[in-house]
Amino acid sequence: MCGIVGYIGSRDAKEILLHGLEKLEYRGYDSAGIFVINEENNGHLFKEKGRIAALRSKVDNAVEANAGIGHTRWATHGEPSVRNAHPHQSADGRFTIVHNGVIENYQEVKDAYLEHVDLVSETDTEIIVQLIAWFAETEDLDTVSAFKKAIVALEGSYAIALVDNTDPEVVYAAKNKSPLLLGKGDGFNVICSDAMAMIKETNQFVELMDKEIAVVTREELIIENFSGERIERQSYTAELDSNDLEKGTYPYYMLKEIDEQPAVMRRLVLKYQDEDDNLSIAPPMVSPITNSDRIYYNASGTSYHAGLVGKELIEEMTNIPTEVHISSEFGYHTPLLSENPFFIFISQSGETADSRQVLVKMNEMNYPSLTITNVAGSTLSRESTYTLLLHAGPEIAVASTKAYTAQIAVLAILSEVVGSEKGLIKEPNMIQDLGIVANAMQSLVDEKDTIESLASDYLSITRNAFYIGRGMDYHVALEAALKLKEISYIQTEGFAAGELKHGTIALIEKGTPVIALVTEKSVAGHTRGNLQETKARGAHTMVISMDGLDRPDDHIVIPKVNPILSPLVSVIPTQLLSYYCSLHRGNDVDKPRNLAKSVTVE
Ligand code: F6R
Repeated sequence: MCGIVGYIGSRDAKEILLHGLEKLEYRGYDSAGIFVINEENNGHLFKEKGRIAALRSKVDNAVEANAGIGHTRWATHGEPSVRNAHPHQSADGRFTIVHNGVIENYQEVKDAYLEHVDLVSETDTEIIVQLIAWFAETEDLDTVSAFKKAIVALEGSYAIALVDNTDPEVVYAAKNKSPLLLGKGDGFNVICSDAMAMIKETNQFVELMDKEIAVVTREELIIENFSGERIERQSYTAELDSNDLEKGTYPYYMLKEIDEQPAVMRRLVLKYQDEDDNLSIAPPMVSPITNSDRIYYNASGTSYHAGLVGKELIEEMTNIPTEVHISSEFGYHTPLLSENPFFIFISQSGETADSRQVLVKMNEMNYPSLTITNVAGSTLSRESTYTLLLHAGPEIAVASTKAYTAQIAVLAILSEVVGSEKGLIKEPNMIQDLGIVANAMQSLVDEKDTIESLASDYLSITRNAFYIGRGMDYHVALEAALKLKEISYIQTEGFAAGELKHGTIALIEKGTPVIALVTEKSVAGHTRGNLQETKARGAHTMVISMDGLDRPDDHIVIPKVNPILSPLVSVIPTQLLSYYCSLHRGNDVDKPRNLAKSVTVE
């Protein structure tokens, strides 16, 4: 989703901003722009629809500038276009801003203050910059006061970077609900919505909190709240290895990230092992879970699918009843809660606005919570009581792969630790089981040629497809279908195998691909029977089964693992099928249309 960068120092601001925007490309966007300025107050605005490469080719290399702001836009108000791309400027040309988030009362603000202004874009962002200019002019306010007065009038979410052309020695920033970081350098400072954008410049970052304003010069970062009180905050070191952000020899990040999964499993075991080689999680985090009478997972998309598997793991190993909810539903249609609930938020990015709105409400009710995330210091991590990290390394491809398996592995580790604490598990074996999983994953990622040819055979021309399964296989079918639809654009449904005949089988026609997952002994025969029912109606059927339950004609046989961990392995061929299908269809695998990596609006 939208990304922000800002720089003030003495080097070429254009290049630093463009490089930063390239590092944010993975988040998904449809237009981009930069505004740069030099000490002589000469400002230049460049905007373009489409990729950063297109913006780059539009930027005049002869322009000299040592400060500026930049933005990647994912359209919310107004179509993707140059006109709607950020930065936006006030009518008098004095102020320039970039903005992430959504201003909910933009129509009211427009009606109250800006009737006289001819707006040039359809965005809510333009309202902000025109409002700043209005207060600066009509009330003769300095920039900070005009900025504050404007944002106090706004309702909604925002991360904003602002430049006042009459004072090019300062870049201003403000935040509410949308993430924003300030980066400290030697003789320069930066602003970014994601540390990845500026990790080449610095690894020292300070978080801006909700309802704070920052005044950033090349020497100083000053943070204050809306009442003008100065806030001192220590910087932290962003533990990002810039090598992790590169594709290396891989054609796409998604393939690299699929291949990294065995290593992530092994790393997780090491990270959660104590000096006696037992799995361990800090006792203060374990005890509220152990003592809770019900666990509520909240998550979206792929992370929700990880939660479905996590429910089975927690219930099997800890006996604690567990519910899994889609965050965008839970916050506004909250079910009756148990007496002593514990909340677990699952989020790769730790920034998903749908989950955050639930967390804010649960915090207001003083319920304890845990966030399972890949991003240390992310909003959900900071605002929940506890955090467990995925240690998966940055996930750049929009389609989540290694984060999904890492989420399940962390939930498995948590389940075993809590189960042991409750005295339900006498002989923990998760360390060995995850080692077996890592080896099984490796053998599957080594089967790329076979899976690529299955993708060509089954998925190259179809317009729809089905994954079916029961139990754990149903949960994986949902994730497999999401992965295929989001990057191949094939309409795909994940279905409980037994439900097909209750209606949906009407969609099966000659050649419809139906892929069955068969890893659970007790239901294997039933799922195979349901697959036969589709075959009898012309479906092009494929079976992914587990060693021991396989039959000679099965197409992919995954190695045997502890059945409760089967999703970690059975999902791998489905990820590769999606990857090759998208590749063969000529799609941009890493940046599928309309999607964003970090979904920071509700
Ligand atoms: C799909 C995908 C999304 C995310 C969802 C939640 O491949 O990545 O469905 O899982 O947007 O994002 P996080 O996990 O960052 O909260």
